Amino acid sequence: MKVPDDVRKDIPLTQEVIYFDNAATSLTPLPVIQAMNEYYLKYRANVHRGVHRLSQRATHEYEKAREKVAKFINAEFEEVIFTKNASESLNLIAWGLEWKKGDKIVTTPYEHHSNLLPWIRVARKYGLKLEFIEGDDEGNLDLADAEKKIRGAKLVAVQHVSNILGVIHEVEELGKMAKEEGAIFVVDAAQSVGHMEVDVRKLHADFLAFSGHKGPMGPTGIGVLYVREEMFDIFEPPLIGGGTIEDVSLNEYKLTAPPERYEAGTPNIAGAIGLGAAIDYITKIGLDKIERQEYKLVKRTTEGFDDLGIEWYGPRNLKKHAGVVSFNIAAPHLAGFRLHPHDIAAILDEHNIMIRSGHHCVLPVVKRLKLQGTARASFHCYNTVEEVEYMLGVLEEVVKSLR
Ligand code: ALA
Repeated sequence: MKVPDDVRKDIPLTQEVIYFDNAATSLTPLPVIQAMNEYYLKYRANVHRGVHRLSQRATHEYEKAREKVAKFINAEFEEVIFTKNASESLNLIAWGLEWKKGDKIVTTPYEHHSNLLPWIRVARKYGLKLEFIEGDDEGNLDLADAEKKIRGAKLVAVQHVSNILGVIHEVEELGKMAKEEGAIFVVDAAQSVGHMEVDVRKLHADFLAFSGHKGPMGPTGIGVLYVREEMFDIFEPPLIGGGTIEDVSLNEYKLTAPPERYEAGTPNIAGAIGLGAAIDYITKIGLDKIERQEYKLVKRTTEGFDDLGIEWYGPRNLKKHAGVVSFNIAAPHLAGFRLHPHDIAAILDEHNIMIRSGHHCVLPVVKRLKLQGTARASFHCYNTVEEVEYMLGVLEEVVKSLR
């Protein structure tokens, strides 16, 4: 497939708007919508619960989607659990593990709230230690400090890519450090899956979380929790009930094997099937082409921002910068004044450009940089350099009006 042209043809919305809010959620290609429609129109039934042929087909397609996810992240079939989204996946890990007073959790100061709040909560509830690997304002981690902090940790939880700074962290190295210490290694891959290679084995991940609707271009309401087989014995399903058992009597139950053990109740069947179709689609495009296109977009954006004197955040080394560029516009004659990010987003919206503004659910980073928030352009492979040029043209006018 040709990037971006062929992908744009499959996404009618790209003809109508400039969509730069892909870190929040991506646009949906037609084959994904068609796969979900087919489920609703041709074999709408529950999974694992019927012998009739519609249920059989639904079960088959649902499990085929799991197989596709497993292959895509280099996991085993049983290790892939369908959830609602990355946030749910991360919360489940925190609830499903056993904690004892004094256990140490190590994370970074750049985490999305979804990979921070669950750890703060268990730390408070069980008297755990929560420590943060040092890093600079661009989001680059100090790996020597990581090595020190990870010593004696029970669990290390890090994001692969920051949704505000765009920084790509050295998860493989951190995973190795965690494993050497016998710590459980958790990766929040919400901003990386579908944008770059994510291989759970290479990353040494014991758990890995992502949403279907961001990088993979799937529907909302479906996410994945990867659980390494070795974790099955120590990771208790926080939710149990329908579909999770082998046997039940009035006073006891025996849980069934994974993955069903971890999927209580009727799952998001259409969502999983849509995610399966999305993974086929991403595979057809090729992750290498996606990465190359996003790199081009980030390069042009940051060069344009530099020319216009627009502040942007995250690593200057663009090899470490994924397709997420946060920025602010200052008024040179008013010390400390920055246009509110929501105003930037509203101005861009008037020009048919969709970005996100605000704290992006990463308040600790916003506070650290002493900002009221950021405007954020985030890309996928269907975005074009011409669209970036157009945004830069609009922002140039904004900058001029502040001089
Ligand atoms: N976490 C998503 C974002 O960064 C919603 O916009």
